[in-house]
Amino acid sequence: MYYRQMGKIPHKRHTMFKKEDGSLFREQVMGTRGFSGTQSILYHHYMPTEVVKSELACHYLPQYEDQQSLKHRHFITSKSVKKGNGLQAREYILGNQDLLIGTASITEPMKSYYRNGDGDEMLFVHYGTGRLETMFGTITYRPGDYLLIPIGTIYRIIPNEKDTTKILFVESFSQITTPRRYRNEYGQLLEHSPFCERDLRGPEILETFDEKGEFEVITKSRGALHSHILGHHPFDVVGWDGYLYPWAFNVEDFEPITGRIHQPPPVHQTFEGNNFVVCSFVPRLFDYHPEAIPAPYYHSNVNSDELLYYVKGNFMSRKGVQLESITLHPSGIPHGPHPGKTEASIGKKETLELAVMIDTFHPLKVVKNAMVMEDPAYMYSWTEKME
Ligand SMILES: [Fe+2]
Repeated sequence: MYYRQMGKIPHKRHTMFKKEDGSLFREQVMGTRGFSGTQSILYHHYMPTEVVKSELACHYLPQYEDQQSLKHRHFITSKSVKKGNGLQAREYILGNQDLLIGTASITEPMKSYYRNGDGDEMLFVHYGTGRLETMFGTITYRPGDYLLIPIGTIYRIIPNEKDTTKILFVESFSQITTPRRYRNEYGQLLEHSPFCERDLRGPEILETFDEKGEFEVITKSRGALHSHILGHHPFDVVGWDGYLYPWAFNVEDFEPITGRIHQPPPVHQTFEGNNFVVCSFVPRLFDYHPEAIPAPYYHSNVNSDELLYYVKGNFMSRKGVQLESITLHPSGIPHGPHPGKTEASIGKKETLELAVMIDTFHPLKVVKNAMVMEDPAYMYSWTEKME
């Protein structure tokens, strides 16, 4: 990310910054990798350490199914009955030591506040509009937004009234960034990147709550949720600056890279974390070699698992999947277009598909509770006669 500033900050860091009554604002340096990574400096009305009560709330790490035979999997996430606020509604589906992946139908605003102390979060908004309120300020969201929330950011999700927000979420145990190969040595996105800084939205307004009282912040850390009751409003920041803050990128701003023949999946890459990448398959013109086959070739993910979340349109190489479906094509066995899809793609000029792909470099495990959403026939859907 790059430098941003909001609200009031003193001219020089680590110097006196006084309120009108002469008392000091409280400075907080919030950074990654032990003062060597990206960081921001925030100025609070109250000490961010002012906690009146700390309790272990519950354990949250999902339970995984026992080892099964190696299969392609299909989860119909619209079958999930979980509802609630942006934390309760999370339905974990897959995970490993690097990240947890799931979906959530958010029907209520969060009353408490929340932060992930284990890593960054990425929320992809499929349906719905609302506000992502954070200690750095508020971002309004809409369908197609990727919301990137750095580790330790206190936030809550406020869907607009009567407007369910459906998200695909990633809880990473590392930092999620733009792909390194698209950045120059100064950190700026290069000309061949499918998006640039202009497409990235930071917080739009910084509302400051100078308010004493008891406010609950739920912190996710070490496999558990912890309840911390602060003695002041958690959004008491008057100003901040730096490189670490929540931001949004709408998938409509992803400029597809196309070619004369089939372009490999890395052209769709949007973000990366430790041992995983996130890609966006967006509406685009197809390959223009006169004999090109736009559908992908069969391929083996030799050492990565591939997850696809289907957002809009008909995915050109698949049949039998629905919007909000998740498919998992594990490493070790090949996958590719469904019967008839290769031929059907020939001569097509464009695709209107929209899907999010997550490739992980360690195998993903299936969460036990997710098995009720599973379409068990998917593994054999390449052998059926399909129109
Ligand atoms: Fe693939």
